[in-house]
Amino acid sequence: MNARTVLIVGLVALALVACMASDVLAQQPLKIGLILPMTGPFASTGRQVVAAVKLYVAQHGDVVAGRKIEVLLRDDTNAPETTKRYAQELVVNDHAEVLAGFGLTPLAFAAAPIATAAKTPMIVMCAGTLVIPQKSPYIVRTSFTLPQNTAPIAMWAPKHGIKKVFTLVADYAPGIDSETTFTRVFKANGGEIVGQVRVPVQNPDYAPFVQRAKDAKPDALFVFVPSGEGAAVMKQFAERGLAKGGIKFIGPGDVTDDDILDSMGDAAIGTITSHDYSAAHSSAENVAYVAAFEKANPDMRPNFMSVGGWDGMELVYRVLKKTNGSAEGDKFIAAAKGMSWISPRGKITIDPKTRDIIQDVYIREVKRVNGHLFNVEFDRIPSVQPDGAVE
Ligand code: PHB
Repeated sequence: MNARTVLIVGLVALALVACMASDVLAQQPLKIGLILPMTGPFASTGRQVVAAVKLYVAQHGDVVAGRKIEVLLRDDTNAPETTKRYAQELVVNDHAEVLAGFGLTPLAFAAAPIATAAKTPMIVMCAGTLVIPQKSPYIVRTSFTLPQNTAPIAMWAPKHGIKKVFTLVADYAPGIDSETTFTRVFKANGGEIVGQVRVPVQNPDYAPFVQRAKDAKPDALFVFVPSGEGAAVMKQFAERGLAKGGIKFIGPGDVTDDDILDSMGDAAIGTITSHDYSAAHSSAENVAYVAAFEKANPDMRPNFMSVGGWDGMELVYRVLKKTNGSAEGDKFIAAAKGMSWISPRGKITIDPKTRDIIQDVYIREVKRVNGHLFNVEFDRIPSVQPDGAVE
């Protein structure tokens, strides 16, 4: 063989090896470690996200860019040390290439160092504290932030006769985010805060706090409690006669969570909230989403946590198509930055600067529609930034 032939043979051999290597990659399943509270007080979040993830895979197929998608579900029971242990085991023992889920902020905080150490993409599908993506360069968020979902109601209220507000929030990071955002934006728009309380996250007794709110005689009670807790606050609001005394109920929409709204009864009617998702959102995409979700899960209505899960999967599929099946940390994050698509909730974008979500936020009122309670949207604030800034 002359030198030229040797070179050609060598190049062909190299190309073959490269092809085989990419074939091997293509044949390997892509494991997504999905860590969520499936039991305990926040099990509704886990149930909602799992239902959405399963629906997404059923509708879009379980192979993307040649990789078979395998979801490994772990129940962290809302214990941060368990989240961290599962994140580590999933990456090290199970070779998960993507971590996802994270039902509450402390759980996302606990997993972030594992994502950083392993350079593994970590998709926050649920938790809402603003600083979360700063905890690891491998975090991307598809849920929402509390400043984003709170600023719009703080702007709306003073323009609609609500001048004095008493705030009640769960005493942990997203509650503090919500309280500080509401206070800042509401005051800047001419509002006055007449009292503030922070209540325990675990097993709170809302009665004395709601009574204090009533005694302060505000125009409205502002509430942030995490998904699953709204009915307990609403019960106290009704029993203590705040509505009868002319006090309105406002907040980000976690409190009128679609998962439990219909069980809250007439006391919830008239509650005004701002939020990224309502099952009553009238777009064609959402009508199809709700119908498919309810067909697959006849006893459930999708809530805002479910769309965080749905769009988290959309993100994985879109990224893998762009990277030809690679979920390598830096490639994944680079591909995710700036991505934008139409979600069941409306248009969403992954902010290339913060890896956080930019989305429309809606003002809604709880109404009875065909016998069931819904958050009926009546105003839209486009492209709200993660920190709550509006265009
Ligand atoms: C959170 O812990 O970040 C969290 C949980 C539930 C919500 C909102 C935020 O509804």
